[in-house]
Amino acid sequence: MINPMLTSCTPEDVAAPRQSAHEADELHTGLQAPDAWISPKYLYDALGSKLFEAICELPEYYPTRTEASIFERYGAEIARSAGTGATLIDLGAGNCAKAAGLFPLLQPAQYVAIDISTDFVHDALARLRQRFPQIAMEALGMDFSSSFELPPQVNAGRRLFFYPGSSIGNFTPDEAQGFLTRLRAQCGNDGGVLIGIDLAKDAATLDAAYDDALGVTAAFNLNLLRHVNRLIDGDFDIRGWQHRGAYNAAMGRIEMHLEARSAQTVHWRGGERRFQAGERIHTENSYKYQQADAIGLLERSGFEATRVWTDPQRWFAVIHAQAIAS
Ligand code: AVJ
Repeated sequence: MINPMLTSCTPEDVAAPRQSAHEADELHTGLQAPDAWISPKYLYDALGSKLFEAICELPEYYPTRTEASIFERYGAEIARSAGTGATLIDLGAGNCAKAAGLFPLLQPAQYVAIDISTDFVHDALARLRQRFPQIAMEALGMDFSSSFELPPQVNAGRRLFFYPGSSIGNFTPDEAQGFLTRLRAQCGNDGGVLIGIDLAKDAATLDAAYDDALGVTAAFNLNLLRHVNRLIDGDFDIRGWQHRGAYNAAMGRIEMHLEARSAQTVHWRGGERRFQAGERIHTENSYKYQQADAIGLLERSGFEATRVWTDPQRWFAVIHAQAIAS
């Protein structure tokens, strides 16, 4: 299923983005809900993907560099556990940098980069082909968050799903189990998953990571409104909204919201809504796991965790899990 939602390098030049009725419906439903919400997938238009790259460079945003330090330190062990010569399927590949760093160790037979930000991932893969001409590569622009079917370009060989960065945290634990179960169904008895999961930690560290001093995360969150304006002809006034990002300890998750600075009415194709001052739109959850819960989640989804690697502070876990034979 190829996502027809195209993004452009210069977002303003998109006259009429091709967009599925399903997505327009989903946006409409969320905006009309008593507790308004917009799916976090709309954070990633071309600019949003760049802002996320910038977030990964922030001192407060520990996940990316903590995960990188684990790959750096344990790369050889990880490759021994995950095996070489697989079809490496990168879910949410973005700029493909994480997978590329592992190519020398994992030596995939084929690399499949999947991302909702279609142009972004195609550009990244075009550059990567120059650097690794010996590896067969495919870029797929699609939304794999709901259901997905791998197209025939994906080799039938042993499949290793690569799902780094704790992107799994965007799902509720139930949704995550559904998602991992679908991966299990698509990877065969000899397949597996190499996944990065952010671990629960003190609230101050988490709060800072999702509400940074420079305001890059705020820009990332607010940019979603620009994207939504383009998709459904909305008239969200970006300056009328404010970023909120904080840990909800009871739910075990970071929540990002956009909060109306003043009362306002927003219109879009097919709908409108009055927002009161202080009213919020929920834009993202980022669940943080206990290591044992992460392993349990994998097991309930048909995967057996073969190895877990963490950093000295135990802030982040990289797990290789093998399909449990059916
Ligand atoms: C890409 C979903 C893993 O939850 O940490 C970063 C997205 N949101 N800052 C995360 C994000 C705000 C990120 N994931």
